[in-house]
Amino acid sequence: MELQGRTALITGGARRLGRRTALALAERNASVVIHYRTSDVAAEEVADEVRRQGGRAWLVQADLASEEEAGSLVERSIALAGPVHLLVNNVSLFDPSTLDTVTLDEVQSNMAVNAWAPFALIRAVAAQGIETAAVNLLDTRIRDYDWNHAAYILSKHVLSVLTRMCALKYAPGMTVNAVAPGLVLPPPGEDDAYLERVCGRLPLRRHGSADDVAAATLFLLSSRFITGQTIYVDGGAHLRGANEWTTS
Ligand SMILES: NC(=O)c1ccc[n+]([C@@H]2O[C@H](COP(=O)([O-])OP(=O)(O)OC[C@H]3O[C@@H](n4cnc5c(N)ncnc54)[C@H](OP(=O)(O)O)[C@@H]3O)[C@@H](O)[C@H]2O)c1
Repeated sequence: MELQGRTALITGGARRLGRRTALALAERNASVVIHYRTSDVAAEEVADEVRRQGGRAWLVQADLASEEEAGSLVERSIALAGPVHLLVNNVSLFDPSTLDTVTLDEVQSNMAVNAWAPFALIRAVAAQGIETAAVNLLDTRIRDYDWNHAAYILSKHVLSVLTRMCALKYAPGMTVNAVAPGLVLPPPGEDDAYLERVCGRLPLRRHGSADDVAAATLFLLSSRFITGQTIYVDGGAHLRGANEWTTS
């Protein structure tokens, strides 16, 4: 699908990977609806940057833990920007949890934000009845486990299955694909030194960048013949077990 002239909704577009992807979409002349939860100043900065480059940008605030707010986000985006052709489900909770101590509450909140909300957005975008494309952000560790983020990785597994189910359910009008990043940005509490320390364990012996993730996302959004796929943007990490590179 040609990105120029299309409108994209990107969740969590104010910071980190979401910010880079929002700007990359604008660089390809797509209009962008930037969703944020708490990062209002950062979201406004991204929108200003898009407008400085001659593009169109709008902001929408929502807590995607709320079924109601997730359920109305596409409608609100359409009211602001017109039809939504492209969806990037980028938002994620990433709190530590282990099987020893994880609670039902933690599992449910990760499922709500990381799996249910992306699905609700896909369903609402598909309901417009126009040609659309969605990309879900997964995690290379869905090929294995993340023992230190148990509730998180469970929810990403669910989103992975939903990617394939939605690809079938909403064809031919919509493509639904996924990008599974690996070692790209440092996790909370770590800096770039962490990336340098760990990247030697990856087959390609380097870490990725937000540009690598954005490029894969834009590739999938623009394809009219790829659906239900996952691109691993991870330096080959998925070819080995996650335990080989995630233990610091
Ligand atoms: N970074 C990596 O190297 C990496 C590796 C593997 C997978 N991924 C995946 O790639 C995606 C982006 O990663 P990231 O590290 O850039 O993400 P992040 O910084 O951890 O989170 C992105 C945004 O999610 C939003 N968010 C969290 N809870 C929310 C809620 N209840 N409702 C609405 N928004 C909420 C926050 O928005 P506000 O700031 O506005 O509150 C936050 O800025 C995620 O899906 C992640 O799992 C990333």
